[in-house]
Amino acid sequence: KSIVILVSGRGSNMEAIVRAAIPGARIAAVISNRPDAQGLQFAAGRGIPTAVVDHRHYPDRAAFDAALAEVIEGHGADLVVLAGFMRVLTDDFVRRFEGRLLNIHPSLLPSFPGLHTHRRALEAGVRVHGATVHFVTPALDCGPVVIQAVVPVLPDDDEERLAARVLAEEHRIYPQAVRWFVEGRLQLEGGHRMRVRGEG
Ligand code: GRF
Repeated sequence: KSIVILVSGRGSNMEAIVRAAIPGARIAAVISNRPDAQGLQFAAGRGIPTAVVDHRHYPDRAAFDAALAEVIEGHGADLVVLAGFMRVLTDDFVRRFEGRLLNIHPSLLPSFPGLHTHRRALEAGVRVHGATVHFVTPALDCGPVVIQAVVPVLPDDDEERLAARVLAEEHRIYPQAVRWFVEGRLQLEGGHRMRVRGEG
């Protein structure tokens, strides 16, 4: 299966997926909307094709997404993995890749969709927090959940410590979700449901 990973910055989730060396998965390309994304250097160093589709060069979201979709399709993607990709995608884009588009979000969805999830979790006083891998559907951060990881919120936590604890789990669950997809075990059932086949 060919996998295209989209990043905007650090790319540590992309790195975790690449390092997982998932049998049957070929990382076809790493694409960034920002030319200075750190993740691009790691990918290039691994001999993975990289591309930049700079959103600032397009008049609107629709034009950017259309260009992005072309580059992705050019790599023959069976699966598109959003890994810290910080652009909201249009409904047209999402529908085009429906069922083969995954995202990771740093909270236990449906709690804390959107930005600054760790700060908001601390402010809310929740005792557990975490990360979610989900299929992307047109509503932001709302698609069917594939896998979640839970971490405790500890008394002395600040945003940075909590983020680091969550990130370590992201690096575990995202490769797992991609592995399931590649094994043909993830099935989007329409509406809000999905199924992981062959689990215990
Ligand atoms: C991760 O916390 C991810 O969940 C969020 O943005 C961060 C990206 O980190 N969407 P990285 O670029 O994968 O290191």
